[in-house]
Amino acid sequence: MKKIAILASGSGSNAENIIKYFSSNNEVEVPFVISNRKEVYVHERCKKLSVPSYFFSKVDFENGVVTKFLLDNKIDLVVLAGFLLKIPNDMLDAYPNMIINIHPSLLPKYGGKGMYGDNVHKAVVENKETESGITIHFLNEKIDEGEPLAQYKCEVLPTDTPEDVANKVHALEYEWYPKVIEKILLG
Ligand code: GAR
Repeated sequence: MKKIAILASGSGSNAENIIKYFSSNNEVEVPFVISNRKEVYVHERCKKLSVPSYFFSKVDFENGVVTKFLLDNKIDLVVLAGFLLKIPNDMLDAYPNMIINIHPSLLPKYGGKGMYGDNVHKAVVENKETESGITIHFLNEKIDEGEPLAQYKCEVLPTDTPEDVANKVHALEYEWYPKVIEKILLG
């Protein structure tokens, strides 16, 4: 059995989608979700799905507590799903090419500091882009700059609002993130 830990900082719709995708898979499991925030909706989603979700503070991430927790639980792959804290170097060292992230744009466009969630979609509409999409990439020490694994595009219409773009991008995330995870783990 391959084990995935999902790290999420917010609503957790991708976390929920990944948990559901693997729920009947007997080669991959999601034993728990970790968040750096206590009061976020991902915990409610996990409760409903009967998957434990744990809160760890920024300090726990920085001083190696979370990395030890992942290793102690024999986690194979760390999956960031709307996770907004910098991943510490000890975790990058413990999981070489085994930490992946999803970003809601076609990187390198709309990446870097401050570019997350709806900020990305607002910028895409303001700049009158004709396409957007998702990038799934390995994580390295620089924000949004790890080696890309996959990109998927959607059309942006002149009439689209940031919310419209968000819906299109989320649809791509739900379709592709679990499949890419499966491919990494099972080939
Ligand atoms: C997702 O769209 C994800 O791509 C984005 O945050 C959203 C989280 O939604 N991640 C980033 O912007 C990372 N830079 P969710 O909590 O409903 O899964």
